[in-house]
Amino acid sequence: MEIVYDALVVLHLLGMAGIVSGVVARSVAPAGPAPAITMYSAGAQVLTGVALVGIASAGLVAAEPDNTKVAVKLGIAVIVLVLAHILWRRPESGKGVFYGLAGFTLANVVIAVFW
Ligand code: HEM
Repeated sequence: MEIVYDALVVLHLLGMAGIVSGVVARSVAPAGPAPAITMYSAGAQVLTGVALVGIASAGLVAAEPDNTKVAVKLGIAVIVLVLAHILWRRPESGKGVFYGLAGFTLANVVIAVFW
């Protein structure tokens, strides 16, 4: 199961890279495909994150999940997903949605590393 967990961590990190690349792509080419990349990557973060926690909580790997940290990360990830969905449906929506998405993503990276 360790190999599955590690593979999910890789997908989780690629999902983060996907959101970041979507944010960068939108800031240089606002009319490009960034909203779809961002939304699918945000969805991947929620799915891979929940799967990681599920495997760890089941005691199948050595990692011990911190439930408070996970709850905060999940809440933020859902906000990121909702904002990504808004940007996808309404690419012309205000800068607040875009900066909010970028900020909450950064917050989850900081929480993942420092908490
Ligand atoms: C925007 C959403 C998210 C971002 C940007 C993000 C980012 C990250 C990053 C950068 C790491 C690696 C940290 C490290 O190895 O030190 C990580 C690990 C992790 N994340 Fe997330 N995350 C997100 C959402 C979630 C969600 C929703 C969950 C769970 C519900 C979650 C659960 C985890 C877990 C369990 C790990 C530890 C993996 C390990 O054992 O190394 N993440 N996340």
